[in-house]
Amino acid sequence: MDVVKEFGSERVLDGVDLAVPAGAITVLLGPSGAGKTVTIQHILGLLKPSAGVVKVDGEDLAAISEEELYEVRRGMSVVLQGSLPFTCGLFYSLNVYENVAYGLRERTRWSDERIDRVTKEALRTVGLQDHADRMPGELSGGMAKRTALARALALKSSIVIIDDLDAGLDSVRLSLLCAVIRDAQEDTDATVLVTTHDMKVARDLADFVALIHEGRIIANGEADAVLGSDEPFVRQFVSGARSGPLQLRDT
Ligand SMILES: Nc1ncnc2c1ncn2[C@@H]1O[C@H](COP(=O)(O)OP(=O)(O)OP(=O)(O)O)[C@@H](O)[C@H]1O
Ligand SMILES: [Mg+2]
Repeated sequence: MDVVKEFGSERVLDGVDLAVPAGAITVLLGPSGAGKTVTIQHILGLLKPSAGVVKVDGEDLAAISEEELYEVRRGMSVVLQGSLPFTCGLFYSLNVYENVAYGLRERTRWSDERIDRVTKEALRTVGLQDHADRMPGELSGGMAKRTALARALALKSSIVIIDDLDAGLDSVRLSLLCAVIRDAQEDTDATVLVTTHDMKVARDLADFVALIHEGRIIANGEADAVLGSDEPFVRQFVSGARSGPLQLRDT
């Protein structure tokens, strides 16, 4: 809460106050460079705040041991943004099938047969059943994203974090994946946090929306209320208008 992050003299998060309600889908929406990935890295305990507190399941990440942090992370499924060679956090030396199966072998005590069944089912859900043998380097950006999503959802974790859902995905696949994520959330009642630049994702998927700009949460609350807000930045972002507070030049 009230998280500030500075890299040298640059203040990247300027008092981010983001509550992610349990058992619902929250979309962290904002333009490129707003601080979405840096926020996610704080929630994963990969970055430590310059000021403020980050809590997951009530635990202050700064107050727990490395082992406890590891346990907190094991309770989460994550799709990282990442670029080559760390595409969406996939294991670069494992093929699509093994990327999904590996997570299940690590985190469950399921039989090989069950792991095989769940892996194939997860790949079918994201439409990659015919590409199970491909290596991450042979995938398009959207296929890599779908592989990472299959891996994350197969685990049925109580916390699911997906950074930059829209990158690499065409609007049809994006819409279909939103439905997959919604089904998965309803099935498991997970707490889901998705970041995106895409308004359509926010409309399709969000129970709650937090809009971030220049390291600050501009609006936060139930999706309809936020997306219908009169705040100038919200209006511009929702409508895609050229005139408004958001311009090409980064401030
Ligand atoms: N390790 C770092 N060191 C210095 N600056 C960083 C670092 N990581 C991120 N930044 C800066 O923090 C700001 C926010 O970056 P961030 O990656 O969180 O944006 P984002 O909202 O995820 O954007 P996108 O939608 O393009 O993924 C940017 O100005 C970026 O240059
Ligand atoms: Mg990002």
